[in-house]
Amino acid sequence: MSEIIQKLRTTQNLSDEELKLILTTDSYDEELTQNADAVRREHYGTDVYLRGLIEFTNYCKNDCLYCGIRKSNQNLSRYRLTEQDILECCKEGYALGFRTFVLQGGEDMYYTDERICNIISEIHKNYPDCAITLSIGEKSYDSYLAYFKAGAERYLLRHETANTEHYSKLHPAKMSCEHRKKCLFNLKKIGYQVGAGMMVSSPFQTLDNIIEDLRFLQELQPQMIGIGPFLSHQDTPFKNKPNGELKPVLKLLGILRLMFPKVLLPATTALGTLHPLGRELGLKTGANVIMPNLSPICVRKKYMLYDNKICTGDESAQCRQCTEQRAKSIGYQVVMSRGDAKDFEKR
Ligand code: 5AD
Ligand code: FES
Repeated sequence: MSEIIQKLRTTQNLSDEELKLILTTDSYDEELTQNADAVRREHYGTDVYLRGLIEFTNYCKNDCLYCGIRKSNQNLSRYRLTEQDILECCKEGYALGFRTFVLQGGEDMYYTDERICNIISEIHKNYPDCAITLSIGEKSYDSYLAYFKAGAERYLLRHETANTEHYSKLHPAKMSCEHRKKCLFNLKKIGYQVGAGMMVSSPFQTLDNIIEDLRFLQELQPQMIGIGPFLSHQDTPFKNKPNGELKPVLKLLGILRLMFPKVLLPATTALGTLHPLGRELGLKTGANVIMPNLSPICVRKKYMLYDNKICTGDESAQCRQCTEQRAKSIGYQVVMSRGDAKDFEKR
């Protein structure tokens, strides 16, 4: 084995220069993949955890330059699911075997803390054996605390990029990298299992930015890291920016698995959109989570974060089946447990 991959695997760290070398040299790829898979098997065997994703609102007060549901996009019909709708999704998901529900949406002020807490409490009451994950953006410490007390245990908030200057090129001036990071530390402090992550090959991203992302993740120590390629959306200012490529995402998945041996790493929908076998390749390079869509069919095409998003025409049962098949085809198997992070100490 080459010294550098060996070093990354045994020390879970490298210098900036060494990381850049792996990121820019293709001859390490095969070894990186093999070692990432070996480490994933040490901790998680061949298990793939599933999360049922419920995209409950595409209203958003933010205007992120890359995102299809940004406030300024007028070409989008907006929707909100009622508490009843959401509980229906959970019912269907539960019957399909899901034991984690991810409530994801834009930053939609209609859903006050009270409404969110009610939704969480209802799900918690009806499905006490399930984990509830929120992915609803930047909120105050007190809001996060209220959701936690209502029964949400996990929170996904990608940092998108850890570099302030880069962050400001992807987001309007109202949003800040500092606040994003502060939110992530608040979530950890409260006791959530936290998911962070970045877009790979987003416009203006440099190699140094990626190193900064890795350093930030080392500082935060999240339980989950979600990464996927940037994909352009026709109704955003970044419509003419090139899509990310497969290689850098796979390289980063491999590096993340070796740096964070026990972290949960999803093979993301964006990766599956970029390449027909993107998620399978992700799983083979250290990823161990897939998040099939549980949203009602009638709203799926409206939750278009980027063009050509997959799974927008498929029933929940189809996505569930499809995911199982895909995992099986490469020698892994989906497991329907809650799939908590291995290093997470419950308080
Ligand atoms: N391309 C790729 N990923 C995107 N996301 C949003 N817009 C895009 C895009 N155009 C990702 C962001 C966000 C997550 C929900 O989806 O990283 O955190
Ligand atoms: Fe949705 Fe394959 S996971 S159709």
